[in-house]
Amino acid sequence: MRTLVITGGTQGIGKALAQHYLTRGDRVVVIGTNQNKGEALLAEANRLSASDRCSFLPADLSSPTVTIRLADQLRTRYPSIDALVLGAFRYQIRRQETAEGVERTFALYVLSRFLLANELRTALERAPHPVIVNLCGTGGKGGWLHWDDLQLRRQYRPLAATMQGARANDLLGVAFTDEHSDSPVRYVLHNPLFVKTGLAEPFRQPTRTALSIITKVFATPVDKAIQPIIERIDTPPRPALSAFRVDRMIDITGPAFDRNAARQLADTLRNLIINRTDD
Ligand SMILES: NC(=O)c1ccc[n+]([C@@H]2O[C@H](COP(=O)([O-])OP(=O)(O)OC[C@H]3O[C@@H](n4cnc5c(N)ncnc54)[C@H](OP(=O)(O)O)[C@@H]3O)[C@@H](O)[C@H]2O)c1
Repeated sequence: MRTLVITGGTQGIGKALAQHYLTRGDRVVVIGTNQNKGEALLAEANRLSASDRCSFLPADLSSPTVTIRLADQLRTRYPSIDALVLGAFRYQIRRQETAEGVERTFALYVLSRFLLANELRTALERAPHPVIVNLCGTGGKGGWLHWDDLQLRRQYRPLAATMQGARANDLLGVAFTDEHSDSPVRYVLHNPLFVKTGLAEPFRQPTRTALSIITKVFATPVDKAIQPIIERIDTPPRPALSAFRVDRMIDITGPAFDRNAARQLADTLRNLIINRTDD
């Protein structure tokens, strides 16, 4: 039986993956913030006679303190982890800071993914074919890292924050495989493109209705969107780092995957953690 940790597993792509692996007989640990959604997943696991293989761990991953504690708990409970799926995300309309003083989009989309991959690495390395799948926006040209103001204090725009996160996640994959070049962990960056999930939820009316309609008409159904992700989890690619847009493998030699930028980001994140967390 394999063990999968899925952040953002209470909804959308993460939830569909959780259901798939529970049906397949694996152990699934789901992270999210919403107790009702977590309980709904546990009820579903019960229907699948998989209660003993499904856990919901409520945790607000926008808090680095909570994320570090969660990783500690995960390592203790699951000494060997086969797959870590990084899927937790929330579109943040207004700039907000966490209790540690970190801008929330950056904290959830970038810092928590950096922390979890690094804190769970040793547990992953005990599995026979370990893989990290980071659901992000690989290799696109939109957005950039605002190096002089990563937390967008001067001007916060939700789309700029999201696109910065997408670019940063590509670099997280580069930094991880650069720093742990001997590790058996395969790091997969995967952009599922436009998928029928909770995209419209954070928006106010009338944007929410408009987005719901666009999603209904144009987005890929979630059951279809998870198929290439399942392939990557079941048969991790050979290279330490790979990037995909749905089925298409992306070239990772371009500027979006620059090693110096990746190192700079990893150093910045480490400094941020040292300065902002209390343990
Ligand atoms: N859908 C798309 O079209 C699309 C396109 C490209 C990339 N992606 C990427 O794919 C991933 C999954 O997307 P999705 O559309 O399936 O997401 P979604 O339906 O919006 O679900 C987001 C998940 O993140 C969790 N989450 C949000 N804030 C959290 C927090 N502070 N701490 C812990 N968990 C939190 C939510 O759980 P709770 O509600 O329980 O907190 C939920 O399970 C995301 O990383 C997204 O960037 C999606």
